[in-house]
Order: sequence, then structure tokens, then C-alpha cells
Amino acid sequence: MLGPRKTLESLAHRETGHSLAKTLSWPHLVALGVGAIVGTGIYTLTGVGAERAGPAVILAFAIAGAVCACAALAYAEMATLIPAAGSAYTFSYAAMGETVAWIVGWSLILEYSLACSTVAVGWSGYLVGWIQSAGVPLAEMLLTGPFTGGLINLPAVLVALAIMGMLIGGTRESATLNIILVIIKLAALSVFVAIALPAFQADNLQPFMPYGFGSSEIGGAKRGVMAAAAIVFFAFYGFDAVATSAEEAKNPGRDLTIGIIGSMLVCTVIYMAVAFAAVGALPFQELGHSAEPLALVLRALDQPFAAHVIALAAIIALPSVILVMMYGQSRVFFVMARDGLLPRALARINPKTGAPTRITLMTGVSIALVAGIFPLDKIAEMANAGTLIAFIAVGACLMIMRRREPALPRLFRCPQPYLVGTLAIAGCAYLLFSLPTDTLIRFAIWNVAGLIFYCLYSRPRSSAGRDLAAQRA
Ligand code: ALA
Repeated sequence: MLGPRKTLESLAHRETGHSLAKTLSWPHLVALGVGAIVGTGIYTLTGVGAERAGPAVILAFAIAGAVCACAALAYAEMATLIPAAGSAYTFSYAAMGETVAWIVGWSLILEYSLACSTVAVGWSGYLVGWIQSAGVPLAEMLLTGPFTGGLINLPAVLVALAIMGMLIGGTRESATLNIILVIIKLAALSVFVAIALPAFQADNLQPFMPYGFGSSEIGGAKRGVMAAAAIVFFAFYGFDAVATSAEEAKNPGRDLTIGIIGSMLVCTVIYMAVAFAAVGALPFQELGHSAEPLALVLRALDQPFAAHVIALAAIIALPSVILVMMYGQSRVFFVMARDGLLPRALARINPKTGAPTRITLMTGVSIALVAGIFPLDKIAEMANAGTLIAFIAVGACLMIMRRREPALPRLFRCPQPYLVGTLAIAGCAYLLFSLPTDTLIRFAIWNVAGLIFYCLYSRPRSSAGRDLAAQRA
């Protein structure tokens, strides 16, 4: 019923022509992590979060961060136990069997692809605001998709396609460029806090929780601290993209632990500071309607130059998030295709660049299409739903593998694994059910479609299934 499981030995074995080169060490991985984590979540969704929770968006960041910290600990242990590409999908294959692995892999498609699309739309918001604030007129129809009164979000489409081109050019160069972009992004957020914090007004924090704590329908939308936590959760993930590159790490034990935990901690501290500075400086109602809320705060504080600089930093650096997430997506597809669950021809690697070209092309074009058409918060909610399922699975994997293989060496051992695993699962489930109902329905439809594809196409072609049948014969 749950399908075959992969053994840890089989995960250590790679077919020739289908393995990835070991080129990354821990500074690359921290940069990869921070590169994926800090993005549209803090730059744009802070506004959406404030609209849903009021000033208590600060609390929403803390809750989402705490849940993610539990998931990150589980990821770190699993990634060092199973240092093979594919992250939550691969872990689930070993711990819970193919059917669960498929559901997780199918959810990861939402996580990585839709996160790329979300960031592309967020990037477009800052670009458009930046150009318009310089007094240059733009064709409105090409700045937003059909659901928000336009035709297509052309800047979002173009940035997604450009990043796809970079990835097709080869992993190594992309990872190095990523480090520079990460520095720009963090410097800009520091400048924001330095300017906004002195303008703090205690009145802006009253009432702190205008819509209460739990996620409930208020004024036609889900509101409350948990509703905001379910959306700003987006700001925290990405550290798992580090785990997807485990097969390419030079020293997986050390490099992955530092990469995942380190990048997570850095980001949590920064977000709390940015959210506090933003809602302290401006009434929360004003933040919610902006496509570029951080630039808006600075303009409202009469700092047009600083607003310009922040927007420019976002424009230059947000693509690094797309880069890492698209990289993660192409690697998950790659592993699923290598396992026979998706067409195997997709797993072919270009010998010159070491990148899986076909799969990257397919991923990039789909991401660009979604970014061109759908509104930011709706894409982010679906991405979150997929990610939450993956995190729940990793929490379960942690506990199952501790029970089944307690003696296996783990370069990183999660403290209190059963407590952390349970908190990760419960926290993610709570966040998942705090999402708007229409998103949950769309997510259910996505999974039903995935399971139909699995039964008709993937299951009969699965390599692990074939191995199992051969062993039995
Ligand atoms: N955490 C990433 C972001 O906020 C996906 O953009």
C-alpha cells in the first residue's frame, strides 16, 4: 500500500551519468540558505501579514519562525543521515515508502516552483514602484496578471526566464554570484531597520491584535495572528533547499548542519527586527495594500533616497531567491525522474555544465507562466501548503528513522527528536489549517491529480518497485 522503501545503501549508490558533482562547501550552503530564505516573504508579505494580523504580525513571524526551527532541526538530522539530493522526497522514500514520497515530491513542486513565482511577482512590485517613483510611465496592462486587472505580469515572467538561463549555464557560477546578492539583501534590510526604528510610535502598536489570535473569517478574508503566520511562513523556508543539494556538498555532515541551522537563525533575528520597525513606523492598514511595503514605509518617513536604495537592493537581490528555489526544484524533479516516477529522459545531465538542462527548462517556463498570471498572495498560499506537507513529512521521518535505525551514525543529532518532531508536525498542521479555505481546496485538487498521475504513470515505472519485484522473483 505504501509502496517500496529505499534502503540507505541504495541512496549511497549512484548510476554513472546520473550523479551530481561535489562542488559546494559550507559558505556556499549558508549563502544558498540565506539566499533562499530572505526574499519576498520579508520584503513584500510583511504587508499582507500586517493586513491579516495587525501589529501582531511581529508575533506571526515569531510563531512561523519557531515552527520552522523545529522543521529545520529535523531537516538537518535527516540531511546528514541521508545526504542525497531530493530533500523531503528522498527522506520520505527511505522512511515511509514510495507513495508518501510521491505525495511529498508532488508537494515540493508547489513549494519550490510557486515560491519562485511568488518572488518573481514580489520582485516585479519593487521594480515597477522603483521605475514609477522616478516618474517613468509604464503600460499598466503589462504590470499585473488578469486576476488583478491587467493582462500579464511581464517583469515577473522575464525575471523567471532570466534565472532559468543562469541555471542552465551551470551551478557553480550561480552559487558564487548568489553570495554577492545575499550581502546586498542583508545590508538593505539593516538600513531599513536603522531608518525606521527611530520613527517608532507606540500608538501604532495599539490595538496589538485587532483580529484576535486564531485564523477566522473576518470581512470576507481569513484574519488573525495564525492567518498571518500561515502566510508569513513563506518568509522562512528555503533552508531545505540546502538539503536538496546534499549530494553536491563536499563534506555533507559539517556543511549541511552549518548551512541549515546557521541560515535559519540569522533570518529569524532579522525578520523580527524588520517587522517591528515597519509596524512601529506606520499604521498597519497602510502596509497591507502596497506591492513594496518597505519602500512605502521609507517614503512615508520622508526618506525617498533610502526608499530608492531599498527598492534597488530588492530588485538586484530578490532574484537570488528564485535562483536557489529553482535550483531546488530542478534537483527534486531530477531525482524523481531518476527514480522512474517522472520520465527518465528528464534526468539527463549536460556533461559540460553539470546541470540537468531539460528539467530546468521545463521548470523555468512553468514558473514564469504562473508568475505572469496569478496574484502574489494566492501563489504564496499554495506554495506554503506544499511546504507545510513537506515539513510534516520530515518531522515524521526524523522520528521513524530514530526508532528504526537508532544506531546509524548521524553527523548532526537533533536534540529531543520526538519532542521536536511532534512540534514540527503539530505546528505545521496548525499553520496549514489556518490557510484560507479556497487555498486548501485547490491544494486538495492538486494532490488528487498527483495521485492519479502516480497510479497511472509512476507506480508501474518505478525503479524501486522493479527492484523489489526482481528480488521477490
Ligand atoms: N523565504 C523565501 C522568501 O521569503 C521563499 O522569498
